Amino acid sequence: MKKKVSIIGAGNVGASLAQLLVYSGICDVVLFDIVNGVPQGKALDLSEACPLWGSSINITGTNDYKDTAGSDVIVITAGLARKPGMSRDDLLSANAKVVADVAKNTCQLSRDAIFIVVTNPMDVMAQVTLKVTGFNPDMIIGMGGILDSARFRTFVAWELGIAPEDVEALVMGGHGDQMVPMPRFTTAKGISITHLISEDRINKLIERTKNGGAEIVGLLKTGSAFYAPSASTFQMVKSVILDEKRLLPCSAYLNGQYGLKGYYAGVPVILGKKGVEKIIELPLNEQEKSAFEKSFEAVKGLVQNLNTMGG
Ligand code: NAI
Ligand code: 2OP
Repeated sequence: MKKKVSIIGAGNVGASLAQLLVYSGICDVVLFDIVNGVPQGKALDLSEACPLWGSSINITGTNDYKDTAGSDVIVITAGLARKPGMSRDDLLSANAKVVADVAKNTCQLSRDAIFIVVTNPMDVMAQVTLKVTGFNPDMIIGMGGILDSARFRTFVAWELGIAPEDVEALVMGGHGDQMVPMPRFTTAKGISITHLISEDRINKLIERTKNGGAEIVGLLKTGSAFYAPSASTFQMVKSVILDEKRLLPCSAYLNGQYGLKGYYAGVPVILGKKGVEKIIELPLNEQEKSAFEKSFEAVKGLVQNLNTMGG
């Protein structure tokens, strides 16, 4: 039987992810939104592309949660996106209400689903989803590290004048201003970039990576990035539904790993049909450890702010 993936939020990220899933033909797709007509119209448009793509999956556009019942994966992209001058954290309270509502409505109908949370501030929204669903923490995963690492990979590839796919990069921590690009664990065909690029230039690439989301918001003016975000989410969905066991940087609930507990942060994980199947603990040096802990504290602070607001 085909796997079923429900995408909640048929906006830029959700619809672009639907396109990648339909094109790949690996699962049936349900596209849900609160706006009447939009998910239905996008689903019809995608269905009409199927003959051209040689895809025979079913895609449903809906405003009714019942259509998401029995999903293998639920992707949450519903909520507000950043506008110029806004940080991801500015979306906290409004998006927490949306995500709590989405999590409540979907978890009742798909008791075994793996949740992939995209809505910002993502690490906090993953925690909201965890709280509302009461699911095992390994079943709730946030998307951010793949995107941040892809941005770092791109900038490193441009700097070295090599193909982006020959660069592997790692960005850890929360998907926010305190994210932690890790040059020691970033390589061009296995060669650490610390041997290939000067420290001064690496620091400039790190700053551009950390500012990557804002750079695109500043250019688009009406919203935030969605091509690289949907491509990143696609990798996660695929690894779960095909049980690929990819090793990917994702936001996972830490329960003692890296000496930290009780909140989400970006770490390398093995992703399979059960969600987070293992968190990989890297031997961080003092500087990396301190930056990672600072980033974790920033996520924790936002969760505590939200709790104070009654979220
Ligand atoms: P968008 O504005 O294009 O789409 C959001 C969609 O959510 C809209 O269609 C809206 O109608 C829908 N929506 C709002 N409330 C809803 C509800 N209660 N139930 C169902 N649908 C609802 O925004 P975009 O660009 O798709 O971004 C979505 C979210 O993803 C934003 O919070 C954005 O910041 C975040 N994001 C996170 C990334 C990450 O790396 N974690 C990367 C890119 C975006
Ligand atoms: C990004 O990094 C807005 O989180 C989104 O592009």
